[in-house]
Amino acid sequence: MADLSSPRLAAAVAEAGGLGIVSVYGATPAQIAALLDTVRAQTTGVFGANFIMRFVDPALVPECVAVAAAKDKVVDFFYSDPDATLVEIVHAGGALACWQVGSREEAVAAANAGCDFLIAQGIEAGGHVRGRIGLLALLSEVLAAVDVPVLAAGGIGSGRAMAAALAAGADGVRVGTRFVAAEEAGAHPAYVQALIAAEAQDTVYTDVFSVGWHTGPGSRSTG
Ligand SMILES: Cc1cc2nc3c(=O)[nH]c(=O)nc-3n(C[C@H](O)[C@H](O)[C@H](O)COP(=O)(O)O)c2cc1C
Repeated sequence: MADLSSPRLAAAVAEAGGLGIVSVYGATPAQIAALLDTVRAQTTGVFGANFIMRFVDPALVPECVAVAAAKDKVVDFFYSDPDATLVEIVHAGGALACWQVGSREEAVAAANAGCDFLIAQGIEAGGHVRGRIGLLALLSEVLAAVDVPVLAAGGIGSGRAMAAALAAGADGVRVGTRFVAAEEAGAHPAYVQALIAAEAQDTVYTDVFSVGWHTGPGSRSTG
């Protein structure tokens, strides 16, 4: 979501009282600092940085994560095995560490790695999908397996859906696809138009958006 989860969108979410997240993978430490400074200039609210570790230069990982942790309140990881070393770097920088997970096993690993909270991503999710089962079933398994707060992600695009996830025990929700249509996301107008025109049955589960994701299980996307 690197282009869509822009500083402007993260700041707007933070201004509205949510936790705005900026994707910073693929950026150098200096670029990460600049991105997060741009968010801070637009809001006094709470925001965080998101890393998909496979896109971070291994040589720059500690510095990238340390810079993010020093500049925001949350560092959020997705699509790699939970790593206690990364969590320690986040904590040393004074931020909270979060891992978005797709299974009970991954949730337990993330909690054991020291994460402060988790995001359980069900198969309904847009973007790259880690979850292999429906959100409610996954959430139920994860909540029973860990003691840290758990947010729910996948198919939540309305207040009603958010209320359902909270009623199912989630401590909060992550919303992705719904915000692609937000003006602040800066998505191409054709994308926004298609999204607004789409109905639930138009959802596809595909790997056509997985270029560079080392295709195979765990690299599919909903679009
Ligand atoms: C266009 C798009 C790009 C995404 N990019 C990222 C990303 O860079 N990092 C990440 O952790 N999650 C990413 N996600 C997944 C979200 O974190 C979240 O799991 C998902 O959007 C929740 O499902 P929903 O789209 O139905 O709300 C992306 C989702 C979408 C729709």
